[in-house]
Amino acid sequence: MPVSQSSSETSPEILSGKRILLIISGGIAAYKSLDLIRRLRERGASVRPVMTAGAQAFITPLAVGALAADKVFTELFSREDEQDVGHIRLARECDLVLVAPATANIMAKMAQGLTDDLASTILLATDRPVLLAPAMNPKMWVHPATRRNRETLAGDGIAFVGPGLGEMAESGERGEGRMAEPLEIVAAVEARLSATRPTSGPNGPLSGRRAIVTSGPTHEPIDPVRYIANRSSGRQGHAIAAALARLGAEVTLVSGPVTLADPKGVAVVHVQTAVEMRDAVLAALPADIAVMVAAVADWRVADIAGAKIKKAPGEGPPPLQLTENPDILKTVGHHAQRPRLVVGFAAETDDTVANGRLKLARKGADFIVANDVSAGSGVAGGVMGGTRNRVTVIGRDSEESWPELDKDMVAEKLAALIASRLD
Ligand SMILES: Cc1cc2nc3c(=O)[nH]c(=O)nc-3n(C[C@H](O)[C@H](O)[C@H](O)COP(=O)(O)O)c2cc1C
Repeated sequence: MPVSQSSSETSPEILSGKRILLIISGGIAAYKSLDLIRRLRERGASVRPVMTAGAQAFITPLAVGALAADKVFTELFSREDEQDVGHIRLARECDLVLVAPATANIMAKMAQGLTDDLASTILLATDRPVLLAPAMNPKMWVHPATRRNRETLAGDGIAFVGPGLGEMAESGERGEGRMAEPLEIVAAVEARLSATRPTSGPNGPLSGRRAIVTSGPTHEPIDPVRYIANRSSGRQGHAIAAALARLGAEVTLVSGPVTLADPKGVAVVHVQTAVEMRDAVLAALPADIAVMVAAVADWRVADIAGAKIKKAPGEGPPPLQLTENPDILKTVGHHAQRPRLVVGFAAETDDTVANGRLKLARKGADFIVANDVSAGSGVAGGVMGGTRNRVTVIGRDSEESWPELDKDMVAEKLAALIASRLD
């Protein structure tokens, strides 16, 4: 995926002084790790490299060590390395462990807890946040075994960046499996680091702040058994509520009907309709922060039938008269108890940024997070209902385009932005 190099995509200060343990495993994308090392170091991070035997078939420890300006660790049973630093210290003396590229093999070993070389031993021994940038043939990526491993690792708290859609370097095959570009990986490292800053939790940068987040779709009843809905899964809103809570905020999440578990440490109000959602949001005021992520139905049925509408022979379909739903973001943006920071999400299918900017003014928001939810937006699996998102954060005097990221990463970056704005 092409990533523009505008400075607005990354925040150099987050990486300054951070120690990244970079594990390079044996994929053809290993050549991109050389550029990745450069990108991390130019933002002030130090990079300590570990290479698997496979990685050394693709790039040399000499090139990696020269770019990292550090020793390259390759052996588990090295008396010299063990006396010098040791695998446990390697695993712990860093702020983040990054595996790029992450092969199908290393993911499988991690999912099983196998430790048959230095890299896999570090990955089992570390207590630091771990971020994987998988890279493999598309068939390997969609194989049920790799999917199972990915699910297991995600459940273990391991974060992912990519892979993206593209052409494979060695086979020319197209599909999902191409390693994320170095700048996208840098953005994901920053997001992961900002979410795991030692100040997070009860003493986090948002402690003492109250936040209201909306999430998911709304269901607008037609009769007792039918309703109008949309494809929103609630993943993005729930992830934002969790990310704000991790930074110490007291969060009320107003959620439409979703199949997700309630995020930890968050008070959740479950609603069905837009009117119920508006009422729950207003009841949760006052707050310092409002992040309106829910895909609220624009219209509801004017006269909801009290009994199931029956199909009568020869009568054709019943007419559905719609009426406008309340605009929750606009209501909050112009409310007498308006939170200090109001953020709205705009799902657009065309002119994403232009429409986002119009919404910013109309709704009285401080930021609009515009995402292109059209089928051709390039985000694998589609934004609505999918796990990834590519957004542009539009402020009154700013505009930042973030690369395609997991929704959890988007949430962490947005929570960090909110914390810095409220500071
Ligand atoms: C030319 C070539 C390219 C390869 N590219 C990849 C790749 O992109 N991703 C992957 O998972 N495995 C790839 N492999 C297979 C791995 O190198 C192999 O599974 C190896 O055991 C990985 O070891 P490691 O995970 O310890 O580095 C490739 C193999 C060859 C010969």
